[in-house]
Amino acid sequence: MSKAEVYAQVLEQATALFDGQRNWVHITNPLFYSNFSNAAALLWHAYHSLPAPSSAVNWSGFYFTDPSNPRQLILGPFQGQVACQAIAFGRGVCGAAAETKVTQLVEDVDKFPGHIACDGASKSEVVVPIVKDGKTVAIIDVDCAELNGFNDEDQVALEELARLLAESCDF
Ligand code: SME
Repeated sequence: MSKAEVYAQVLEQATALFDGQRNWVHITNPLFYSNFSNAAALLWHAYHSLPAPSSAVNWSGFYFTDPSNPRQLILGPFQGQVACQAIAFGRGVCGAAAETKVTQLVEDVDKFPGHIACDGASKSEVVVPIVKDGKTVAIIDVDCAELNGFNDEDQVALEELARLLAESCDF
Protein backbone atom coordinates (compact mmCIF):
# COMPACT_ATOMS: atom_id res chain seq x y z
CA MET A 1 0.00 0.00 0.00
CA SER A 2 1.08 3.57 -0.56
CA LYS A 3 1.53 6.07 2.25
CA ALA A 4 -1.76 7.74 1.26
CA GLU A 5 -3.59 4.40 1.50
CA VAL A 6 -1.95 3.51 4.82
CA TYR A 7 -2.88 6.88 6.34
CA ALA A 8 -6.43 6.60 4.98
CA GLN A 9 -6.67 3.25 6.76
CA VAL A 10 -5.28 4.74 10.00
CA LEU A 11 -7.86 7.53 9.93
CA GLU A 12 -10.68 5.14 9.07
CA GLN A 13 -9.72 2.70 11.83
CA ALA A 14 -9.19 5.53 14.31
CA THR A 15 -12.68 6.86 13.56
CA ALA A 16 -14.17 3.40 14.11
CA LEU A 17 -12.18 2.77 17.31
CA PHE A 18 -13.06 6.14 18.83
CA ASP A 19 -16.79 5.75 18.10
CA GLY A 20 -18.63 5.82 21.40
CA GLN A 21 -15.41 5.94 23.45
CA ARG A 22 -15.40 9.53 24.53
CA ASN A 23 -14.04 9.24 28.01
CA TRP A 24 -12.60 5.83 28.74
CA VAL A 25 -9.77 6.28 31.19
CA HIS A 26 -7.06 4.07 32.57
CA ILE A 27 -7.95 2.87 36.04
CA THR A 28 -4.89 4.44 37.70
CA ASN A 29 -4.22 7.45 35.51
CA PRO A 30 -7.07 9.49 34.11
CA LEU A 31 -4.80 10.82 31.37
CA PHE A 32 -4.26 7.50 29.68
CA TYR A 33 -7.20 7.72 27.36
CA SER A 34 -7.82 4.48 25.56
CA ASN A 35 -8.28 6.31 22.25
CA PHE A 36 -4.72 7.59 22.47
CA SER A 37 -3.39 4.12 23.28
CA ASN A 38 -5.10 2.71 20.22
CA ALA A 39 -3.91 5.60 18.07
CA ALA A 40 -0.30 5.00 19.16
CA ALA A 41 -0.62 1.35 18.13
CA LEU A 42 -2.30 2.24 14.81
CA LEU A 43 0.48 4.65 13.92
CA TRP A 44 3.26 2.25 14.88
CA HIS A 45 1.94 -0.55 12.70
CA ALA A 46 1.08 1.84 9.87
CA TYR A 47 4.66 3.13 9.64
CA HIS A 48 6.08 -0.35 9.86
CA SER A 49 3.93 -1.48 6.93
CA LEU A 50 5.55 1.18 4.71
CA PRO A 51 8.95 1.26 3.01
CA ALA A 52 11.86 3.31 4.35
CA PRO A 53 12.10 5.87 5.77
CA SER A 54 8.65 5.32 7.38
CA SER A 55 9.57 1.75 8.36
CA ALA A 56 12.41 3.22 10.46
CA VAL A 57 9.95 4.96 12.82
CA ASN A 58 11.23 4.17 16.32
CA TRP A 59 8.70 6.04 18.48
CA SER A 60 5.06 7.03 18.04
CA GLY A 61 2.92 8.39 20.78
CA PHE A 62 1.57 11.28 22.78
CA TYR A 63 2.25 13.78 25.50
CA PHE A 64 -0.62 15.46 27.37
CA THR A 65 -0.74 18.91 28.84
CA ASP A 66 -0.51 18.39 32.60
CA PRO A 67 -3.80 19.53 34.14
CA SER A 68 -1.97 20.55 37.32
CA ASN A 69 0.67 22.50 35.38
CA PRO A 70 -0.59 23.83 32.04
CA ARG A 71 2.97 24.77 30.98
CA GLN A 72 4.14 21.16 31.10
CA LEU A 73 3.66 18.07 28.95
CA ILE A 74 3.52 14.64 30.52
CA LEU A 75 4.12 11.32 28.80
CA GLY A 76 1.06 9.54 27.41
CA PRO A 77 0.56 6.25 25.57
CA PHE A 78 3.27 5.35 23.07
CA GLN A 79 5.13 2.61 21.22
CA GLY A 80 8.91 2.53 21.26
CA GLN A 81 11.68 2.99 23.80
CA VAL A 82 11.02 4.54 27.21
CA ALA A 83 10.83 8.33 27.00
CA CYS A 84 11.22 11.33 29.26
CA GLN A 85 8.14 11.85 31.39
CA ALA A 86 7.87 15.63 31.60
CA ILE A 87 8.69 18.32 29.02
CA ALA A 88 8.20 22.03 29.67
CA PHE A 89 6.32 24.08 27.07
CA GLY A 90 8.97 25.70 24.88
CA ARG A 91 11.54 22.92 25.40
CA GLY A 92 12.60 20.55 22.64
CA VAL A 93 10.53 19.71 19.59
CA CYS A 94 7.49 18.66 21.63
CA GLY A 95 7.59 21.78 23.78
CA ALA A 96 7.94 23.99 20.68
CA ALA A 97 4.84 22.45 19.08
CA ALA A 98 2.92 22.75 22.35
CA GLU A 99 3.95 26.38 22.81
CA THR A 100 3.43 27.60 19.24
CA LYS A 101 0.50 25.29 18.30
CA VAL A 102 2.34 24.78 15.02
CA THR A 103 3.51 21.43 13.63
CA GLN A 104 7.27 20.92 13.87
CA LEU A 105 8.65 18.91 10.94
CA VAL A 106 12.29 18.28 11.79
CA GLU A 107 14.49 16.79 9.06
CA ASP A 108 17.52 16.45 11.34
CA VAL A 109 17.01 16.54 15.09
CA ASP A 110 20.66 17.45 15.69
CA LYS A 111 19.96 20.78 13.99
CA PHE A 112 16.94 21.57 16.18
CA PRO A 113 18.01 23.77 19.11
CA GLY A 114 17.17 22.08 22.40
CA HIS A 115 16.07 18.77 20.89
CA ILE A 116 15.56 16.25 23.72
CA ALA A 117 17.18 12.93 22.81
CA CYS A 118 15.04 10.30 24.53
CA ASP A 119 16.26 7.60 22.15
CA GLY A 120 19.70 8.24 20.67
CA ALA A 121 18.62 6.42 17.51
CA SER A 122 16.15 9.17 16.55
CA LYS A 123 17.34 11.26 13.60
CA SER A 124 14.18 13.07 12.47
CA GLU A 125 10.88 13.88 14.10
CA VAL A 126 7.42 15.30 13.54
CA VAL A 127 5.35 16.80 16.35
CA VAL A 128 1.75 17.92 15.82
CA PRO A 129 -0.17 19.88 18.44
CA ILE A 130 -3.66 18.74 19.41
CA VAL A 131 -5.55 21.94 20.04
CA LYS A 132 -8.96 22.26 21.67
CA ASP A 133 -10.68 25.57 22.38
CA GLY A 134 -7.47 27.41 21.48
CA LYS A 135 -5.30 25.44 23.93
CA THR A 136 -2.76 22.68 23.35
CA VAL A 137 -4.23 19.68 25.15
CA ALA A 138 -1.74 17.12 23.83
CA ILE A 139 0.82 16.53 21.08
CA ILE A 140 1.44 13.70 18.63
CA ASP A 141 5.13 12.80 18.45
CA VAL A 142 6.69 10.48 15.88
CA ASP A 143 10.43 9.81 15.67
CA CYS A 144 12.37 8.16 12.86
CA ALA A 145 15.82 6.54 12.92
CA GLU A 146 16.55 8.01 9.46
CA LEU A 147 17.10 11.63 8.45
CA ASN A 148 14.16 13.25 6.58
CA GLY A 149 11.79 10.59 7.87
CA PHE A 150 8.70 12.75 7.33
CA ASN A 151 7.26 14.97 4.63
CA ASP A 152 4.19 17.08 3.92
CA GLU A 153 2.07 13.98 3.44
CA ASP A 154 2.85 12.89 7.01
CA GLN A 155 2.12 16.38 8.30
CA VAL A 156 -1.27 16.64 6.59
CA ALA A 157 -2.42 13.20 7.77
CA LEU A 158 -1.15 13.66 11.33
CA GLU A 159 -2.87 17.06 11.54
CA GLU A 160 -6.08 15.32 10.48
CA LEU A 161 -5.52 12.70 13.19
CA ALA A 162 -4.94 15.52 15.70
CA ARG A 163 -8.33 17.01 14.81
CA LEU A 164 -9.95 13.61 15.18
CA LEU A 165 -8.35 13.06 18.59
CA ALA A 166 -9.30 16.53 19.76
CA GLU A 167 -12.92 15.65 19.03
CA SER A 168 -12.69 12.08 20.29
CA CYS A 169 -12.03 12.79 23.96
CA ASP A 170 -13.61 14.94 26.64
CA PHE A 171 -10.53 16.76 27.84
N1 SME B 1 12.54 14.47 21.00
C1 SME B 1 11.47 15.05 21.76
C2 SME B 1 11.31 14.42 23.10
C3 SME B 1 10.32 13.32 23.15
S1 SME B 1 10.90 11.89 22.52
O1 SME B 1 11.33 12.05 21.14
C4 SME B 1 9.81 10.65 22.66
C5 SME B 1 11.68 16.55 21.89
O2 SME B 1 12.73 17.07 21.54
O3 SME B 1 10.78 17.22 22.37
